[in-house]
Amino acid sequence: MQTQLLDALAYPAESISTAAALLQRGELVAFPTETVYGLGARVFDAEQVQKIFIAKKRPQDNPLIAHIAEAEQAQRIVRSISPIAQKLMQKFFPGALTLVLPKHPDVPAIVSAGLDSIAFRMPAHTLALELIRSVGQPLVAPSANLSGKPSPTTAKHVLQDMQGRIAAVLDGGECGIGIESTVLSLLEATPRILRPGAIHAEMIEEVLGQRIIRNQPLDASNSHELAAVHSPGMKYRHYAPSAQVQLIHDWSEVPSNELSLILASENPHHREDVRPLSTQSLYAEFRRADDLGITRIYILLTKDIVAQEGLMNRIMKACEFPSS
Ligand code: TXA
Ligand code: MG
Repeated sequence: MQTQLLDALAYPAESISTAAALLQRGELVAFPTETVYGLGARVFDAEQVQKIFIAKKRPQDNPLIAHIAEAEQAQRIVRSISPIAQKLMQKFFPGALTLVLPKHPDVPAIVSAGLDSIAFRMPAHTLALELIRSVGQPLVAPSANLSGKPSPTTAKHVLQDMQGRIAAVLDGGECGIGIESTVLSLLEATPRILRPGAIHAEMIEEVLGQRIIRNQPLDASNSHELAAVHSPGMKYRHYAPSAQVQLIHDWSEVPSNELSLILASENPHHREDVRPLSTQSLYAEFRRADDLGITRIYILLTKDIVAQEGLMNRIMKACEFPSS
Protein backbone atom coordinates (compact mmCIF):
# COMPACT_ATOMS: atom_id res chain seq x y z
CA MET A 1 0.00 0.00 0.00
CA GLN A 2 1.33 3.42 -0.96
CA THR A 3 0.33 6.02 1.66
CA GLN A 4 -1.16 9.13 0.02
CA LEU A 5 -0.07 12.52 1.31
CA LEU A 6 -3.07 14.85 1.07
CA ASP A 7 -2.03 18.50 1.09
CA ALA A 8 -4.80 20.04 3.15
CA LEU A 9 -2.98 23.35 3.49
CA ALA A 10 -3.10 23.97 -0.26
CA TYR A 11 -6.28 21.99 -1.07
CA PRO A 12 -8.42 21.71 2.07
CA ALA A 13 -11.77 20.85 0.50
CA GLU A 14 -10.47 18.18 -1.91
CA SER A 15 -8.17 16.69 0.72
CA ILE A 16 -10.94 16.39 3.28
CA SER A 17 -13.34 14.80 0.83
CA THR A 18 -10.70 12.25 -0.28
CA ALA A 19 -9.85 11.49 3.37
CA ALA A 20 -13.54 11.13 4.29
CA ALA A 21 -14.17 8.79 1.34
CA LEU A 22 -11.23 6.57 2.37
CA LEU A 23 -12.50 6.44 5.97
CA GLN A 24 -15.99 5.55 4.75
CA ARG A 25 -14.48 2.70 2.73
CA GLY A 26 -12.90 1.28 5.88
CA GLU A 27 -9.35 2.57 5.30
CA LEU A 28 -7.18 4.33 7.92
CA VAL A 29 -6.34 8.02 7.55
CA ALA A 30 -4.07 10.10 9.80
CA PHE A 31 -5.15 13.66 10.46
CA PRO A 32 -3.85 16.67 12.38
CA THR A 33 -5.26 17.86 15.70
CA GLU A 34 -4.09 20.73 17.89
CA THR A 35 -2.18 18.24 20.11
CA VAL A 36 -0.60 15.59 17.85
CA TYR A 37 -1.56 13.73 14.64
CA GLY A 38 -4.18 11.04 15.18
CA LEU A 39 -4.77 7.80 13.24
CA GLY A 40 -8.47 7.78 12.43
CA ALA A 41 -11.14 5.10 12.05
CA ARG A 42 -14.93 5.31 12.44
CA VAL A 43 -15.98 4.59 16.00
CA PHE A 44 -18.84 2.24 15.07
CA ASP A 45 -16.82 0.09 12.64
CA ALA A 46 -15.08 -2.59 14.73
CA GLU A 47 -13.18 -4.00 11.74
CA GLN A 48 -11.75 -0.64 10.82
CA VAL A 49 -10.81 0.03 14.46
CA GLN A 50 -9.02 -3.33 14.54
CA LYS A 51 -6.81 -2.10 11.66
CA ILE A 52 -5.52 0.69 13.92
CA PHE A 53 -4.07 -1.79 16.40
CA ILE A 54 -2.34 -3.62 13.55
CA ALA A 55 -0.98 -0.50 11.82
CA LYS A 56 0.39 0.92 15.08
CA LYS A 57 1.45 -2.47 16.52
CA ARG A 58 -0.53 -1.36 19.54
CA PRO A 59 -1.33 -3.73 22.42
CA GLN A 60 -4.98 -4.74 22.11
CA ASP A 61 -5.74 -3.84 25.75
CA ASN A 62 -4.92 -0.14 25.33
CA PRO A 63 -8.19 1.75 24.67
CA LEU A 64 -8.69 4.56 22.14
CA ILE A 65 -10.02 8.12 22.28
CA ALA A 66 -13.12 9.02 20.24
CA HIS A 67 -13.09 12.45 18.57
CA ILE A 68 -16.34 14.36 18.14
CA ALA A 69 -17.17 17.49 16.13
CA GLU A 70 -20.43 18.49 17.92
CA ALA A 71 -21.36 18.12 21.57
CA GLU A 72 -24.46 16.12 20.49
CA GLN A 73 -22.21 13.37 19.09
CA ALA A 74 -21.11 12.59 22.66
CA GLN A 75 -24.58 11.22 23.35
CA ARG A 76 -24.04 8.45 20.80
CA ILE A 77 -20.91 7.16 22.54
CA VAL A 78 -21.45 7.69 26.29
CA ARG A 79 -24.23 6.34 28.47
CA SER A 80 -25.00 9.73 30.00
CA ILE A 81 -23.35 13.10 30.39
CA SER A 82 -22.97 14.08 34.05
CA PRO A 83 -23.32 17.72 35.17
CA ILE A 84 -19.55 17.84 35.75
CA ALA A 85 -18.93 16.56 32.22
CA GLN A 86 -21.33 19.15 30.87
CA LYS A 87 -19.48 21.98 32.62
CA LEU A 88 -16.12 20.80 31.37
CA MET A 89 -17.38 20.33 27.81
CA GLN A 90 -18.78 23.84 27.81
CA LYS A 91 -15.50 25.30 28.99
CA PHE A 92 -12.86 23.15 27.27
CA PHE A 93 -14.46 21.72 24.11
CA PRO A 94 -13.06 22.08 21.54
CA GLY A 95 -9.65 21.67 23.17
CA ALA A 96 -6.97 19.41 24.58
CA LEU A 97 -9.11 17.77 27.27
CA THR A 98 -10.24 14.14 27.01
CA LEU A 99 -13.02 12.97 29.32
CA VAL A 100 -13.65 9.39 30.41
CA LEU A 101 -17.30 8.43 31.03
CA PRO A 102 -19.35 5.20 31.03
CA LYS A 103 -19.53 3.83 27.48
CA HIS A 104 -22.68 3.59 25.35
CA PRO A 105 -23.49 -0.08 24.58
CA ASP A 106 -23.52 0.68 20.82
CA VAL A 107 -19.79 1.43 20.79
CA PRO A 108 -17.85 -1.73 19.86
CA ALA A 109 -15.85 -3.24 22.73
CA ILE A 110 -12.58 -3.03 20.77
CA VAL A 111 -12.67 0.79 20.99
CA SER A 112 -12.37 0.75 24.77
CA ALA A 113 -10.37 -2.49 24.95
CA GLY A 114 -13.29 -4.14 26.70
CA LEU A 115 -13.66 -1.45 29.39
CA ASP A 116 -17.10 -0.14 30.35
CA SER A 117 -15.87 3.41 29.87
CA ILE A 118 -14.96 5.52 26.86
CA ALA A 119 -12.53 8.41 26.41
CA PHE A 120 -13.60 11.25 24.10
CA ARG A 121 -12.67 14.77 23.14
CA MET A 122 -13.43 17.50 20.60
CA PRO A 123 -10.21 18.57 18.85
CA ALA A 124 -9.62 22.31 18.38
CA HIS A 125 -8.50 21.93 14.78
CA THR A 126 -10.57 22.97 11.78
CA LEU A 127 -9.36 20.12 9.54
CA ALA A 128 -10.08 17.50 12.20
CA LEU A 129 -13.54 18.91 12.86
CA GLU A 130 -14.39 19.12 9.15
CA LEU A 131 -13.17 15.58 8.59
CA ILE A 132 -15.35 14.23 11.42
CA ARG A 133 -18.34 16.17 10.04
CA SER A 134 -17.79 14.85 6.50
CA VAL A 135 -17.57 11.28 7.76
CA GLY A 136 -20.73 11.82 9.82
CA GLN A 137 -19.69 9.96 12.98
CA PRO A 138 -17.01 10.24 15.67
CA LEU A 139 -13.51 9.06 14.73
CA VAL A 140 -11.35 7.09 17.13
CA ALA A 141 -7.76 8.24 16.88
CA PRO A 142 -4.73 7.25 18.88
CA SER A 143 -1.56 9.20 18.16
CA ALA A 144 -0.44 8.26 14.63
CA ASN A 145 2.96 6.81 15.60
CA LEU A 146 4.16 3.23 15.79
CA SER A 147 3.73 2.07 19.39
CA GLY A 148 6.86 3.02 21.30
CA LYS A 149 7.75 6.03 19.13
CA PRO A 150 7.07 9.66 20.06
CA SER A 151 3.73 11.03 18.92
CA PRO A 152 3.92 12.72 15.49
CA THR A 153 3.53 16.49 15.30
CA THR A 154 3.96 16.76 11.51
CA ALA A 155 2.74 14.74 8.50
CA LYS A 156 6.39 13.83 7.84
CA HIS A 157 6.66 12.15 11.26
CA VAL A 158 3.50 10.18 10.47
CA LEU A 159 5.02 8.96 7.19
CA GLN A 160 8.28 8.00 8.95
CA ASP A 161 6.29 5.49 11.01
CA MET A 162 3.27 4.70 8.85
CA GLN A 163 4.37 4.76 5.18
CA GLY A 164 2.82 1.72 3.53
CA ARG A 165 0.73 0.86 6.61
CA ILE A 166 -2.20 3.29 6.19
CA ALA A 167 -4.14 4.74 3.23
CA ALA A 168 -3.43 8.45 3.67
CA VAL A 169 -2.20 11.34 5.79
CA LEU A 170 -4.04 14.63 5.81
CA ASP A 171 -1.20 17.16 5.96
CA GLY A 172 -2.26 20.20 7.97
CA GLY A 173 1.21 21.38 8.95
CA GLU A 174 2.70 21.35 12.44
CA CYS A 175 0.50 20.73 15.49
CA GLY A 176 0.18 23.77 17.75
CA ILE A 177 0.45 22.08 21.17
CA GLY A 178 2.68 19.12 20.38
CA ILE A 179 1.92 16.80 23.34
CA GLU A 180 -1.16 14.65 23.83
CA SER A 181 -4.35 15.85 25.54
CA THR A 182 -5.02 15.84 29.27
CA VAL A 183 -7.05 12.70 30.09
CA LEU A 184 -9.54 13.17 32.94
CA SER A 185 -11.57 10.31 34.37
CA LEU A 186 -15.10 11.19 35.54
CA LEU A 187 -15.89 7.64 36.64
CA GLU A 188 -15.49 8.32 40.36
CA ALA A 189 -17.05 11.00 42.57
CA THR A 190 -13.86 13.07 42.34
CA PRO A 191 -12.42 13.67 38.85
CA ARG A 192 -8.95 12.17 38.36
CA ILE A 193 -6.21 13.16 35.93
CA LEU A 194 -4.93 10.01 34.21
CA ARG A 195 -2.55 11.80 31.84
CA PRO A 196 -1.46 15.42 32.32
CA GLY A 197 -1.44 17.72 29.30
CA ALA A 198 -1.74 21.35 28.30
CA ILE A 199 -4.95 21.77 30.29
CA HIS A 200 -3.67 21.81 33.86
CA ALA A 201 -5.35 20.54 37.02
CA GLU A 202 -5.78 24.10 38.32
CA MET A 203 -7.68 25.11 35.20
CA ILE A 204 -10.10 22.22 35.70
CA GLU A 205 -10.47 22.94 39.42
CA GLU A 206 -11.26 26.55 38.73
CA VAL A 207 -14.13 25.61 36.44
CA LEU A 208 -15.51 22.93 38.78
CA GLY A 209 -14.90 24.80 42.03
CA GLN A 210 -13.58 21.59 43.62
CA ARG A 211 -10.29 19.75 44.07
CA ILE A 212 -9.50 16.95 41.65
CA ILE A 213 -7.09 14.03 41.97
CA ARG A 214 -3.75 14.68 40.33
CA ASN A 215 -1.76 12.31 38.23
CA GLN A 216 0.42 10.11 40.49
CA PRO A 217 3.79 11.72 41.18
CA LEU A 218 6.40 10.47 38.75
CA ASP A 219 9.02 9.74 41.35
CA ALA A 220 6.80 7.36 43.31
CA SER A 221 8.42 3.97 42.78
CA ASN A 222 5.09 2.34 41.97
CA SER A 223 3.70 5.21 39.90
CA HIS A 224 3.27 2.98 36.87
CA GLU A 225 1.29 0.32 38.70
CA LEU A 226 -0.91 2.98 40.29
CA ALA A 227 -1.59 4.72 37.02
CA ALA A 228 -2.13 1.45 35.19
CA VAL A 229 -5.08 0.63 37.42
CA HIS A 230 -6.91 3.65 36.04
CA SER A 231 -5.52 4.12 32.54
CA PRO A 232 -4.30 1.09 30.64
CA GLY A 233 -2.09 3.23 28.37
CA MET A 234 0.06 4.33 31.30
CA LYS A 235 1.44 0.87 31.99
CA TYR A 236 3.26 0.57 28.68
CA ARG A 237 6.87 1.42 28.32
CA HIS A 238 6.85 4.91 26.96
CA TYR A 239 9.03 6.27 24.26
CA ALA A 240 12.50 7.27 25.26
CA PRO A 241 15.04 8.49 22.73
CA SER A 242 18.06 6.22 22.19
CA ALA A 243 20.15 9.07 23.55
CA GLN A 244 20.58 9.32 27.29
CA VAL A 245 18.47 12.18 28.64
CA GLN A 246 20.02 14.24 31.41
CA LEU A 247 18.21 16.95 33.33
CA ILE A 248 20.17 20.08 34.19
CA HIS A 249 19.31 23.23 36.07
CA ASP A 250 22.09 25.51 34.99
CA TRP A 251 24.16 26.23 31.89
CA SER A 252 27.35 25.46 33.85
CA GLU A 253 26.32 21.79 33.91
CA VAL A 254 26.61 21.39 30.13
CA PRO A 255 29.97 20.21 28.81
CA SER A 256 30.64 21.82 25.45
CA ASN A 257 32.68 19.16 23.66
CA GLU A 258 30.30 16.26 23.30
CA LEU A 259 28.08 14.97 20.55
CA SER A 260 25.05 16.22 22.43
CA LEU A 261 21.85 18.12 22.03
CA ILE A 262 20.74 20.75 24.48
CA LEU A 263 17.04 21.55 24.81
CA ALA A 264 16.23 24.83 26.54
CA SER A 265 13.47 27.42 26.42
CA GLU A 266 16.12 30.15 26.13
CA ASN A 267 19.53 30.48 24.49
CA PRO A 268 21.28 33.42 26.15
CA HIS A 269 24.78 32.38 24.96
CA HIS A 270 23.62 31.88 21.35
CA ARG A 271 24.99 28.35 21.31
CA GLU A 272 24.53 26.43 18.08
CA ASP A 273 23.93 23.13 19.84
CA VAL A 274 20.89 24.53 21.67
CA ARG A 275 17.46 23.69 20.28
CA PRO A 276 14.08 25.05 21.44
CA LEU A 277 12.29 23.32 24.31
CA SER A 278 8.49 23.57 24.39
CA THR A 279 5.53 21.22 24.15
CA GLN A 280 5.48 21.93 20.43
CA SER A 281 9.12 21.00 19.81
CA LEU A 282 9.79 18.16 22.29
CA TYR A 283 8.80 15.13 20.20
CA ALA A 284 10.24 16.59 17.00
CA GLU A 285 13.57 17.09 18.79
CA PHE A 286 13.51 13.53 20.14
CA ARG A 287 12.94 12.21 16.61
CA ARG A 288 15.69 14.46 15.32
CA ALA A 289 18.17 13.28 17.97
CA ASP A 290 17.50 9.65 17.02
CA ASP A 291 17.86 10.42 13.30
CA LEU A 292 21.24 12.09 13.92
CA GLY A 293 22.50 9.36 16.24
CA ILE A 294 22.97 11.81 19.10
CA THR A 295 24.05 10.04 22.30
CA ARG A 296 23.15 12.54 24.99
CA ILE A 297 20.34 15.07 25.41
CA TYR A 298 20.56 17.74 28.09
CA ILE A 299 17.26 19.30 29.10
CA LEU A 300 17.44 22.60 30.93
CA LEU A 301 14.70 22.79 33.54
CA THR A 302 14.04 26.48 33.92
CA LYS A 303 11.05 27.67 35.99
CA ASP A 304 8.84 28.19 32.94
CA ILE A 305 9.40 24.54 31.93
CA VAL A 306 8.85 23.08 35.40
CA ALA A 307 5.51 24.93 35.61
CA GLN A 308 4.15 22.97 32.63
CA GLU A 309 2.86 19.70 34.09
CA GLY A 310 2.14 18.00 30.77
CA LEU A 311 5.55 18.85 29.35
CA MET A 312 7.34 17.80 32.57
CA ASN A 313 5.44 14.50 32.52
CA ARG A 314 6.73 13.70 29.01
CA ILE A 315 10.28 14.82 29.89
CA MET A 316 10.33 12.60 33.00
CA LYS A 317 9.03 9.64 30.98
CA ALA A 318 11.87 10.09 28.51
CA CYS A 319 14.34 9.87 31.41
CA GLU A 320 12.61 6.98 33.11
CA PHE A 321 13.33 4.32 30.52
CA PRO A 322 16.49 5.10 28.61
CA SER A 323 16.42 2.57 25.77
CA SER A 324 19.50 0.56 25.03
O1 TXA B 1 -4.12 14.41 22.17
C1 TXA B 1 -4.53 13.26 22.13
O2 TXA B 1 -5.20 12.74 23.05
C2 TXA B 1 -4.17 12.42 20.88
C3 TXA B 1 -4.88 13.07 19.68
C4 TXA B 1 -4.72 12.26 18.42
O3 TXA B 1 -6.23 13.29 20.00
N1 TXA B 1 -4.55 11.06 21.06
C5 TXA B 1 -3.88 10.21 21.89
O4 TXA B 1 -4.36 8.93 21.87
O5 TXA B 1 -2.94 10.56 22.56
P1 TXA B 1 -3.56 7.68 22.50
O6 TXA B 1 -4.31 6.49 22.07
O7 TXA B 1 -2.14 7.76 22.06
O8 TXA B 1 -3.69 7.85 24.03
C6 TXA B 1 -4.94 7.58 24.65
C7 TXA B 1 -4.77 7.50 26.15
C8 TXA B 1 -4.09 6.22 26.56
O9 TXA B 1 -3.23 6.48 27.65
C9 TXA B 1 -5.28 5.35 26.98
O10 TXA B 1 -4.95 4.35 27.87
C10 TXA B 1 -6.20 6.39 27.59
O11 TXA B 1 -6.07 7.52 26.75
N2 TXA B 1 -7.60 5.92 27.56
C11 TXA B 1 -8.38 5.72 26.47
N3 TXA B 1 -9.59 5.25 26.83
C12 TXA B 1 -9.57 5.15 28.18
C13 TXA B 1 -10.52 4.71 29.14
N4 TXA B 1 -11.73 4.27 28.79
N5 TXA B 1 -10.16 4.75 30.45
C14 TXA B 1 -8.94 5.19 30.81
N6 TXA B 1 -7.99 5.60 29.95
C15 TXA B 1 -8.30 5.58 28.65
MG1 MG C 1 -0.11 7.52 21.89
